[in-house]
Formats: sequence, structure tokens, C-alpha cells
Amino acid sequence: MKSLVCKQFGPIDDLLIEEGPIPVAGPNKVVINVKAASLNFPDALMVQGLYQIKPPTPFVPGAEYAGVVHAVGEGVTHIKPGDRVAAFTGYGGFAEYSVADATRVMPLPPSMSFEQGAAFVLTYATSYHALKDVANLQPGETLLVLGAAGGVGTTAIQLAKLMGATVIAAASSAEKLALCTSLGADHIVNYAAADWREQVNAIVGKKGVDVVYDAVGGAYAEPALRCVGWRGRYLVVGFAAGDIPKIPLNLALLKERQILGVYWGDSVAANPKGHLANMRQLGQWFEAGKIAPSITETVPLEGTVDALKRLSSRNAMGKIVVQL
Ligand SMILES: NC(=O)c1ccc[n+]([C@@H]2O[C@H](COP(=O)([O-])OP(=O)(O)OC[C@H]3O[C@@H](n4cnc5c(N)ncnc54)[C@H](OP(=O)(O)O)[C@@H]3O)[C@@H](O)[C@H]2O)c1
Repeated sequence: MKSLVCKQFGPIDDLLIEEGPIPVAGPNKVVINVKAASLNFPDALMVQGLYQIKPPTPFVPGAEYAGVVHAVGEGVTHIKPGDRVAAFTGYGGFAEYSVADATRVMPLPPSMSFEQGAAFVLTYATSYHALKDVANLQPGETLLVLGAAGGVGTTAIQLAKLMGATVIAAASSAEKLALCTSLGADHIVNYAAADWREQVNAIVGKKGVDVVYDAVGGAYAEPALRCVGWRGRYLVVGFAAGDIPKIPLNLALLKERQILGVYWGDSVAANPKGHLANMRQLGQWFEAGKIAPSITETVPLEGTVDALKRLSSRNAMGKIVVQL
């Protein structure tokens, strides 16, 4: 079987496709014949050794994927060989076969394709946790999404609209903003323009923005925080721009703004029941046709390196999915 291997942390170009044996399912493990795996920004950081999780090398990147159960180990009862499943394991997905802890494997709803299943969990669960559990976003509030055409950004637009908010989507090109509009954004702002903060203020007026969803950081963070109104919330989701911003804390004091961290992975461990409830709601919205991953591109395993490079250099939109 083929897999994309990271032999040691370094440039994305160093990833290699290798042939190897199909893994065997140990106790409480599931071997999945992977049909699709999606790209997430953390995959690109992880292979470069820049992510908070550093797997022992060599390892196969690819945080989430979907496929057919090939074999189950002793103690696995909730799924069986032949079942369609999705898995979130943090890495291991860019391969024809992957081994997952049984607890990380869930049945794929019949109406969900392998590609959709591979592109669902990380982005939707992060954004729903951020908007519902951390920001307590209310109907009628205004949400500003930075990096709105990206993986998590596209889900933040869709979920905030379902939660009754008005969405201002910020991204760096007309093409990316067109995607945001197609997903339901009420307003769009190109933050490549020097006056982008004034554009946001023209939309929200003196009241300011109620919530900012920031998956980008860098030079956008401080102007975005300055857009937040009285007791508004600023969600720290990610730093796709590379730089971790240093924020003058007087901006929190003024207007009693709240700066709130979002870490979906640890929130699942801290509140597993809450996570399951969130996933149930997301599944129902998918079944009802209210949300669907914004898959803009599919590539073969051989195209993964190029796709990861485009993702990490701002040349991708929505979700890219590897088909195996
Ligand atoms: N906190 C959590 O629990 C959690 C969970 C999942 C992901 N994340 C983080 O969220 C961030 C976004 O992840 P994602 O998977 O949505 O990534 P993505 O699909 O690549 O989207 C990131 C967006 O950031 C913008 N961006 C600005 N400067 C960039 C640069 N120098 N390089 C690349 N992109 C840049 C891009 O849009 P424009 O060109 O329009 O600016 C891009 O669409 C990452 O930092 C990731 O680690 C956090």
C-alpha cells in the first residue's frame, strides 16, 4: 500500500510516497481502507515541526479521513469490516490504509460521501465549539470572520448564519470573497485593502462588531480587535499568517472586550459529552442539507505535496481533499 511519509520534520517538499505492508489491527484498533483524506492547515505545520503536536518520526500526516473498515482488533464492537466510517486521528490519513484507535472512528451517515466525511469533523467541530461554547453567539449579533474562505472560515460562515448572526467575511481576494458570499456571508471585506477596518466600521456603525473569529492572526489581529464593540468577544482560533500577534491590553480594557482562546482538540477531552452533543447537531444539520463542506478541489495522493504547499502559501480555498 502507498502512503505519504514524513521521515523527519522539514520542508513540505521532503515528504515521500512509499510502499509498505497493510497494517494489522491490534486490540481496540481499526484498520481503515482510506478513500478520502482532507487537508488542514495543521498538517502543513506538523510536517515542518511547527505544530504543538509532534509525532515520532517517521509518520504519515493527514489528520482526518474517511473510508471502509478493513479489519478490527479485539474489543472493537461498534463497527465491523465493510462499514463506511470517518476517523479523526491527528495524523495517518494520507495513506491507502490507516490504523485508528476505535474511539476515533465513527460511522459515516449514508448520505455523506467519503470526501465530505473526510472534510467534516475538524473544521465544523472547531467552529461550532468556538461560536457556541466559547463566544455564546446570539441571534442578531454581528460576526466578523478573518480568513473566511479557508477551511475553518467557511464553516464559521455557514454555522453563524444558522445561529442567526449577521456575517461579515474578510478575505484577501475577489475569488475568495465570492466563495464566502456563496456560503451565505451578508457582507464581504477585502482585507488586502489598507482601509479594511473603515469598511467594517461602515457596515456596523458605532456599535461595533459583537464577535471576531480570527483564524489568521498576524497584522490583521489588532485592527480586528479594534472593530469589536462594548463587551464584544474576540476568538483566538489560529495563526495562519505565521506571526502570533502581541496585543496592547488596553484594547481589552476599553469597551470591556473579551479575548477568548479556542482549542477544539483539548475541549473534546475536557468535555466529551458536550463534543458528542455538538457532533449530533452538526450531523443533523448536514442530513437536513443545511451545511456541507466547501470542497473546492480533489487531488490524488501524488498531488498532496503540491496541495499542502498551496494551502500554506495562501493559494487554496475551502477544503482540498485527497482521493485514494
Ligand atoms: N483553535 C483550534 O482548535 C483550531 C482548529 C483547527 C484549525 N486551527 C487553526 O486555524 C487556522 C486556519 O486553519 P485552516 O485549516 O482553516 O487553514 P486554511 O484553509 O489554509 O485557511 C487559512 C486562511 O488564512 C488566510 N491567510 C492569511 N495569511 C496567510 C498565510 N501567510 N498563509 C496561509 N494562509 C493565510 C488565508 O486566507 P486569505 O488569503 O483570505 O487571508 C486562508 O484562507 C490555522 O492556524 C489552524 O492551525 C485552529
